[in-house]
Amino acid sequence: MNAQEIEHKVKNLLSQMTLEEKVGQMTQVDFSVIGDPKEQNAEDQINPAKLEDAVLKHHVGSILNAPLNQQVGSIFHPSFTSANNAQSVEIWRKLTRTVQDAAARSRLKIPVIYGIDAIHGATYTENSVLFPQAINMAATFNAELAFKEGEITAREVRVSGLQWNFSTVMDIGRQPLWPRLWETFGEDVHLATVMGTSYIKGHQGDNFSAVDKAPTCLKHYVGYSYPLNGKDRTPAWIGERTLREYFLPTFEAGIKAGSPTVMVNSAEVDGIPGHANHHYLTTILRGELGFKGFTVSDWADIKRLYTRDKMAASEKEAVKIAVMAGIDMSMVPFDFSFYDLLIDLVKSGEVPMSRIDEAVSRILTVKYQAGLFEPKPLLPIEGNFATAEAIETNRQAARESIILAKNDHNILPLKKDTNILVTGPTANLLNVMNGGWTITWQGDAEDLYPQEKLTVLEAIQEKSTGKVTYIGGDAFDAPIDVQQVVEEAKNHDVILLSLGEKPYTETAGNIESLNLDQAQVELANAAIATGKPVILLTLGGRPRIITSIAERASGVILGFLPGMEGGEAIADILYGDYNPNGKLPVSYPRNTNGITPYDYKPMESFEGNTYNPLYAFGHGLSYTTFATSGLKAEKEKIRMDENINVTVNVKNTGALTGKETVLLYINDVAASVTRPNKQLKAFKKVELNPGQTESVSFTLTPHDLSFIGVDLKRIVEPGDFKVMVGNEIVGFTVTE
Ligand code: BGC
Repeated sequence: MNAQEIEHKVKNLLSQMTLEEKVGQMTQVDFSVIGDPKEQNAEDQINPAKLEDAVLKHHVGSILNAPLNQQVGSIFHPSFTSANNAQSVEIWRKLTRTVQDAAARSRLKIPVIYGIDAIHGATYTENSVLFPQAINMAATFNAELAFKEGEITAREVRVSGLQWNFSTVMDIGRQPLWPRLWETFGEDVHLATVMGTSYIKGHQGDNFSAVDKAPTCLKHYVGYSYPLNGKDRTPAWIGERTLREYFLPTFEAGIKAGSPTVMVNSAEVDGIPGHANHHYLTTILRGELGFKGFTVSDWADIKRLYTRDKMAASEKEAVKIAVMAGIDMSMVPFDFSFYDLLIDLVKSGEVPMSRIDEAVSRILTVKYQAGLFEPKPLLPIEGNFATAEAIETNRQAARESIILAKNDHNILPLKKDTNILVTGPTANLLNVMNGGWTITWQGDAEDLYPQEKLTVLEAIQEKSTGKVTYIGGDAFDAPIDVQQVVEEAKNHDVILLSLGEKPYTETAGNIESLNLDQAQVELANAAIATGKPVILLTLGGRPRIITSIAERASGVILGFLPGMEGGEAIADILYGDYNPNGKLPVSYPRNTNGITPYDYKPMESFEGNTYNPLYAFGHGLSYTTFATSGLKAEKEKIRMDENINVTVNVKNTGALTGKETVLLYINDVAASVTRPNKQLKAFKKVELNPGQTESVSFTLTPHDLSFIGVDLKRIVEPGDFKVMVGNEIVGFTVTE
């Protein structure tokens, strides 16, 4: 169906809808509203009476989330029980079929759109391909892998009968304390833009009505990721220039890439909650960015304008504020309060029908675009779900996402017959490699993880021909016998010290300090004191402070959250079966408050101020070496509206084949708004054999040279620019 046909159909349908049917379309409820808690994979988790009430009586337009199975609690966060958990692909097909059958019995037969958080693969479908989390995907600097992740995720979501993915996170990760840092593609605008848009293109294809494609959702618009105090759902202080320069561009790119839905910031920016911000949701999103799709609230956030923010004097006023600010669909999620209140508001004239028609038209348009009105049979499970090829892509993504940060005297790779002592709380768990949104919301239900996947310890045991000894509790809450570690070290050549964090997301992951747990520090100190070489491996969503350990360790591997194939990927790197090439997508702080990003301003390196992270943005070693040389700008002068080409040679100067990401930064030498010391504007990943050289070329556009000026408009200013690659710098001048 082309755009005109869709427009026509939407108008026609809208003209037949009652107010109740329209407001129903704007209502999204949680699975619990139509279901009862039952055993996992029970056939009868949907309660037919509740389903009728939601879909036929309240006309709900959308359902989200997975069933809640009683037996699953949250091991690590007693106050946060897991809100839901994964079902088999067969059960999902039945559940979603039942929902669509109910919608097909409604007066106008408008399909329900079923949404899910499939943020690193189909989170809530058992045995789906679960990729490295976004922070790791960013570390690959490989846009093709993000594209493939999008393709595979969309296919597995659709094979599960699900239709809409609350992914991808386009927030940029510039606040390391924030417990969702790992859901971002890191601190850099360009990197996040490239990775996020590649994912969207893979996920949606040319046409997301295809049976293996699905609409994505850009979240969390906008400024959510930069809470001043580091805690989830707390205020950000972002001025409009900074917002436009750092936080909006990724969303703008996601809209251009065709994402038809946007989820709203659960917190507030500059005193205005995301859900009340007309300026962001309407003036900028619609007026400037030209977004044509629909916006969905985040979880319960319209109510919270009243219950939390005290911005509204009643829940009804909260609904009015949010809808008039530009929210099209409310993730209510547990009741029909939004539906009842909005109907009242329209009847009393407080919300005009035109605003309802606008929101509903947008929602129906996306439903038509997604092919929901003409449903095709689901793809067969066989050949489309957890295929060997998809698992291999995942393994490759995991390998490319792991960062070798230190390798003194080439301690790595290890020989296979090395006697290795493995210790630490993250060595023998799958959940620490996957993080939140894995099987359950918090990702911490280890007993639900696929047992055939390998932990780091198990992958080492498979590969090693030497002695492998493991001393560690099986989880964070099982104490490790430090004395035994010290004793056993004598019988081993090397210690693998596997530290890090439990899985978490959202407010359950809030912390007060980036310091590692004291128990882990004590284990590290004892291991190092044995005098045996220590290889530090970190797993977890945030860069916890490891400085004093890393300085004394012989090798450091930063694993972050490499996903379900992470154990194997790490063992591949430890033993040299894979040559590491991941690079840091964030600056790794040296100290808890050392959270300056790589694109710092001049005053951050003036009069004693320094950018002094433990590991800089872009850092990552290989088992071979690379050298860049011959950096050249094609011209010395260009006009403001011209492109400029830049070339550089990169050579593999070591003895092994390997991949290198060439990073190109620019600096605007003098400008009317202070400019970062450098900003990434392009990158390319190349694979080179020993001795091989490749010439890599880049084109810089006027957009790459632009910034948000004094009057909040994007401009290019004439003057000198520097281009930096490796240790080389070339200059060029921009004239009017
Ligand atoms: C999160 C969103 C998520 C939504 C639906 C919220 O709590 O902030 O990222 O998409 O829940 O599960």
